[in-house]
Amino acid sequence: RPLEVDTGDVSLGEYEHYMLKEIYEQPESIRNAMRGRLDDQDATAVFGGLNLTPQQLRSVERIILTGCGTSWHSALVGEYLIEELARIPVSVEYASELRYRNPPIENNTLVFGITQSGETADTLAALRETKRKGHRTLAICNVVASSIAQAADGGVYLHAGPEIGVASTKAYTSQCCVLAMLALYFGRTRHMSYEAGQGFIEELRRLPAAVQQALTCDQQVRDVAKKYCDATTVLYLGRQYNFPTALEGALKLKEISYIHAEGYPAAEMKHGPIALVDKQTPSVFIVPRGTTHDKVMANMEEVKARGGPIIAVASHDDPHIDAIADDVIRVPQVPGFLQPIVTVVPLQLLSYHIALLRGCDVDKPRNLAKSVTVE
Ligand code: AGP
Repeated sequence: RPLEVDTGDVSLGEYEHYMLKEIYEQPESIRNAMRGRLDDQDATAVFGGLNLTPQQLRSVERIILTGCGTSWHSALVGEYLIEELARIPVSVEYASELRYRNPPIENNTLVFGITQSGETADTLAALRETKRKGHRTLAICNVVASSIAQAADGGVYLHAGPEIGVASTKAYTSQCCVLAMLALYFGRTRHMSYEAGQGFIEELRRLPAAVQQALTCDQQVRDVAKKYCDATTVLYLGRQYNFPTALEGALKLKEISYIHAEGYPAAEMKHGPIALVDKQTPSVFIVPRGTTHDKVMANMEEVKARGGPIIAVASHDDPHIDAIADDVIRVPQVPGFLQPIVTVVPLQLLSYHIALLRGCDVDKPRNLAKSVTVE
């Protein structure tokens, strides 16, 4: 049964839609996710509700991150973060698959259910099933005292405030932020040095300002939206930390503007999706500066050579991008592991403005509910 979202006393204020309001709340919601959780003295993160002893924490040998939709995308970001920074193997599972797939799960595996609503039926069932088998289950959840928060052995709240728009925006960036802090936390119990932990905390503290700055692209995004609002297919391409961003950008466009969109790791393009490229099919490249920047630029050249329009989400100081891309949306530069939190912002806005231009019901898209409480 799809739950009706209760807007309660959450007012729209100056905004036309909840989605737009929630996009603009992100500097604050990210700040709230971090509040009281960064420990400068020990250069780590602290979480009140994980309910793990230091011994249990040390003995973790694998982490499973599970969820649905946008929450599954943040799980992918979490996989990259935790594997890179804490060197713990991570598996990402669609909750709807995990609950029936019956995979072998080793001892000392932690299972995190990631969910905004805390009511998603598949995520709840996946957590119950793994808990029943004796594994420790934790929730990364926004809604306090929700079913998943109660079913898990412990967890971390997002403190993002109510998210009313069906398209998840601020919950996603808060999930990524919490996962980054968990990577720091696990990393610091293992090989991560004190200095590296301090540097990580400094970068986290800069995030709200970076997201604030990313929001200033709104007018430019409106212009891009006008150009491409009649497209029938849009490709989203990004690599490493920006691959989940490509998936998330595509999902946002699909769900609120009803345009077919697909997200891919940029280098996978030549293994099939490039056949879709023509003058009417725009590609959105997420290509901030970083280790794979030049490779993604090469992919972009391939799309350009085939006449495909290119929209690039790029670093504010990238000198080469204008020569290739038709439209460039610039975002502030942050380290690779925090890029998903910044690069997703213009993509949220792009889907919002395209949906508006197409006359879609932004906050309540057809066929969708805020919480999916059926299998
Ligand atoms: C996000 O924009 C979607 N509406 C949807 O994919 C959502 O993320 C998914 O249903 C999971 O919801 P949850 O985070 O509340 O569990």
